[in-house]
Amino acid sequence: MNEVMQTIKQRRSVRKYQARQIPQEECRNIVEAGLYGPTGMNRQPVHITVVRNKELIDRVTLELKAAVARMSGNPYKDYVGSGTYSVNFGAPTFMIVSADVSRTGTAEPDCACALENMFLAARSLEIGSCWVHQLGSVGGDAGFQAFLQKELAFPAGNVIFGCAAFGYPEGDFPKAPPRRGGSNWVE
Ligand SMILES: Cc1cc2nc3c(=O)[nH]c(=O)nc-3n(C[C@H](O)[C@H](O)[C@H](O)COP(=O)(O)O)c2cc1C
Repeated sequence: MNEVMQTIKQRRSVRKYQARQIPQEECRNIVEAGLYGPTGMNRQPVHITVVRNKELIDRVTLELKAAVARMSGNPYKDYVGSGTYSVNFGAPTFMIVSADVSRTGTAEPDCACALENMFLAARSLEIGSCWVHQLGSVGGDAGFQAFLQKELAFPAGNVIFGCAAFGYPEGDFPKAPPRRGGSNWVE
């Protein structure tokens, strides 16, 4: 099996991390992999905000919890509201993947392609990752936006389509769940 196939099959969502930070150079590789993903009409609207400071990542969790509590009907109210919830599962690096939606009609799949590239790049470096989806649900909250823009230099007007935690796994990488998707072939 070639190395790319091996990495695809070995990538798994990791939800328990060591505190040890990823070297900055490897983090740059992960970001670069994201920015090299395909985008509709090559509009390249993807922006990645990298947060590597524990206090700031903890603030993201707190601000998210506060924003969810302010909203009625947020689908993650119970999940995010629980005492154990954090946006990063204890991982030392957190990335927010957003896009300038005024430039394209394919921002969501563009960001998804970026994220999968990032996960695969991370796995190739023995770094674990996990998609974290809740931030997009509070993107329209004025207080949360103010926090993002002031503290994380998040680009005003961008929409969050996914986030991810990155770090070295605590213990082994999880095993792949059984595959349920299929394919049909016509030759
Ligand atoms: C769009 C999307 C959103 C996800 N959101 C979350 C999330 O918020 N929290 C989480 O722990 N995992 C999240 N995941 C990870 C999935 O739970 C995970 O990919 C799935 O259970 C399969 O496991 P694997 O990644 O190890 O193959 C998300 C994955 C995708 C593709």
